[in-house]
Amino acid sequence: MRFLPANRVAELSLDEQAIYRQLDPARLPQHVAIIMDGNGRWAGKRSLKRFLGHQQGAESVQYVVETASRINLPWLTLYAFSLENNLRRPKTEVNFLMRLLRSYLINNVQRMNDNNVRITYIGRTHELPAEVQEKMHWAAEATAHNNGTVLTLALNYGARSELVDAIQALAREAACKNFSLEHISEEDLRRHLYTAHMPDPDLVVRTSGEFRVSNFLLWQMAYSEIYVTERLWPDFRGIHLLEAIADYQRRERRYGGLNKLQESDEAPVPDSFLVPR
Ligand code: FPP
Repeated sequence: MRFLPANRVAELSLDEQAIYRQLDPARLPQHVAIIMDGNGRWAGKRSLKRFLGHQQGAESVQYVVETASRINLPWLTLYAFSLENNLRRPKTEVNFLMRLLRSYLINNVQRMNDNNVRITYIGRTHELPAEVQEKMHWAAEATAHNNGTVLTLALNYGARSELVDAIQALAREAACKNFSLEHISEEDLRRHLYTAHMPDPDLVVRTSGEFRVSNFLLWQMAYSEIYVTERLWPDFRGIHLLEAIADYQRRERRYGGLNKLQESDEAPVPDSFLVPR
């Protein structure tokens, strides 16, 4: 059982504390992943340019990261920039998102350190602009000593390309170690995913009311609980993360099995049941 370090409870707002107190500390998720959506709509509703929605979205990121660290959430993964965003959005928007990411890192490393947060990345990050990669590397190094929440930004990420990268790596390993492809197991493929070092997400949150997974962590979310909220990402705060966790704790996770009540219903099925009438 993980307990919240006493000195950090008081750092939650009173509203957050009220929700946190309803949670079962023994059943907190280990890993929450978030599809941050709705920046453009948030701006549009206010007759603002889309980039201002992204800018406000970056503010939400830091609020949510801080609440995650205060409740001692081990893993938080945020879908910040997809491969498809990179390919299909106008160059001006992509350039703005890259500048925003860079300034987010420069401005928030100190706060990450204050909150014992370590930052890492998944995705084809080697295709990002060199000056962005340089700051990503710097932020990862500057927070590497922290042992609290691991914040993973999915950048230039796509789940299908992750699977292609994993299969290629596995094929190289198979050739090198001379093992036969017939013997490949799920575990062999899992070892080559970008997320090999982390548990699968227990909870996937999507903002802005869309019921889509948008090529995010397709392998890893096989048994994740999914929580969709109408709230647009720039309006999402730590309290909404806690609400999502409260909802998650009301779910029953069965991983394809049965619940206790169903398991106890073990009477054998009579053969007559199978005879065609
Ligand atoms: C979706 O909004 C969100 C994104 C394209 C990426 C998320 C980016 C941020 C939250 C800001 C920067 C992040 C960091 C880590 C600094 P959308 O434009 O698709 O919204 P829409 O569907 O309403 O148009």
